[in-house]
Amino acid sequence: MTREELIREAFEALKNSYSPYSHYPVGACLLTKDGRKFYGANIENASFGLTNCAERSAVFSAYSNGVKKSDIEALAIVSIGVKIAAPCGACRQVLNELLPSGCPIHLSNGKETVTKTMEELLPMSFGPEDVL
Ligand code: THU
Repeated sequence: MTREELIREAFEALKNSYSPYSHYPVGACLLTKDGRKFYGANIENASFGLTNCAERSAVFSAYSNGVKKSDIEALAIVSIGVKIAAPCGACRQVLNELLPSGCPIHLSNGKETVTKTMEELLPMSFGPEDVL
C-alpha cells in the first residue's frame, strides 16, 4: 500500500470523528506488514480531558486486536486544518512506546504530507528501557 493510499484510508476514519467541541476532526490508519488496517478517529467528551486522539484510537485498536509492535508497517494521521496536525505530547509518549523504531508516520492535511519517525518527533524520550 502506498503512502497516498494509507492517507486516503485515514481520511475515511476522519469521517467517524466525534468532535462536537473542537470541530477539529482527525483520522488515523495503522497498517500492518500483512496488510491489515486499523482505524482511529478523535472521540471527544463533554468532560474534555477524556478525549481520545485519533492516532491513539488507531494504535489501541490494533493492539486490542492482537497486533504486536513488530507487526506494524506504518501509521497515517490526517486532519483538514490549514496546517498539518502533528501528534500531541500525550500521543507522542504513547506512540513512542507502541510503534516500532523507525516506523514511518505520515502526517497530512490533504494538501501537503510529511513523513516522520518517533525518533524525530520525540527525541531523548523516556520509555520502557528506563523502567524495565
Ligand atoms: N487531535 C487528534 O486526534 N490528534 C492530533 O494529532 C491532534 C489533536 C484531536 C484532539 C481533539 O479532539 C481535537 O483534535 C482538537 O485538539
